[in-house]
Amino acid sequence: MKFKVAVVGPGAIGTTIAAALHEAGRTPFLCGRTARECLVLNADEGSVRVPGPIEVDPDRAEGPVDLVFLAVKATQVEAAAPWLAALCHEHTVVCVLQNGVEQVPSVAPHVPGSSILPSVVWFPAENQPDGSVRLRAKARLTLPDEASSQLVLEMLSGSRCSVELTSDFTSVAWRKLLQNAAAGLMVLAGRRSGMFHRADIAELTLRYMRECLEVARAEGALLGDEVPQEIVDRFQASPVDMGTSILADRTADRPLEWKTRNAIILNRGQAHFIPTPISAVVVPLLAAASDGPG
Ligand SMILES: NC(=O)c1ccc[n+]([C@@H]2O[C@H](COP(=O)([O-])OP(=O)(O)OC[C@H]3O[C@@H](n4cnc5c(N)ncnc54)[C@H](OP(=O)(O)O)[C@@H]3O)[C@@H](O)[C@H]2O)c1
Repeated sequence: MKFKVAVVGPGAIGTTIAAALHEAGRTPFLCGRTARECLVLNADEGSVRVPGPIEVDPDRAEGPVDLVFLAVKATQVEAAAPWLAALCHEHTVVCVLQNGVEQVPSVAPHVPGSSILPSVVWFPAENQPDGSVRLRAKARLTLPDEASSQLVLEMLSGSRCSVELTSDFTSVAWRKLLQNAAAGLMVLAGRRSGMFHRADIAELTLRYMRECLEVARAEGALLGDEVPQEIVDRFQASPVDMGTSILADRTADRPLEWKTRNAIILNRGQAHFIPTPISAVVVPLLAAASDGPG
């Protein structure tokens, strides 16, 4: 078949990866929910147009591919399952480009037999009102150091997206999850990264991160005492208008990834009998912001 790589979910992250593949001469098959002619990525170095069309009917997939980048939100995996069924066979690698530490258990039931590869996505990308995507930092992924990661390395080699392998994926994934959990505070304040310059928000974030750090360690992550402060420092060093995908979803009144970004830490903390008083406030507020009622 013509396409050996597919991107399912051509949003902010999916467009970035599709553009990286296209620039490297490996234009992917684009699978979405909203029909469009092409994707456009805007980065500091210029724009990339990825030719489409974006297919919206899984029945039009021309058989299995070698590699699927799954870049729908965690809340959209079930709805995207027909794409996975159409694109995957037992040799397909599904690289999940999502936040959280539950990528494998959430996707595996939809692709029995395929290899599911979790990832940590380090770059911020924002959907723009004209349908293009703005990439706000260098594209970078971290993958576990396992055999199926080699295909992703190969497909993205020479592209704008660098790929690192780690033998301790648990620690890297939890480190990123803490950052995502802190970003959830932006939803509750309705503000972008500039809010972390407030002393009271910095203090709250630090306390929240210390609580999350205990849970991460109980889950096997090897993270030092300095991580909470590093996360606060990182937000303070960001442009004041830097958002986060969960804030973009809130602004657009879409469902939020509150379960995979925040509730997971509360739930795992409770399982380990670790006190999580800040999570106990943050999580219900995010859940209500996402799902209502009201
Ligand atoms: N954006 C970031 O800066 C960033 C950074 C790191 C990690 N992440 C994580 O990466 C993941 C993706 O985030 P994102 O910001 O790229 O989300 P996004 O911009 O909302 O993209 C999701 C894409 O999936 C499409 N989609 C939804 N349902 C689908 C279905 N049933 N079949 C096919 N496509 C479907 C959406 O289509 P529509 O156009 O119709 O909505 C959209 O194009 C999330 O887990 C997020 O937390 C994001």
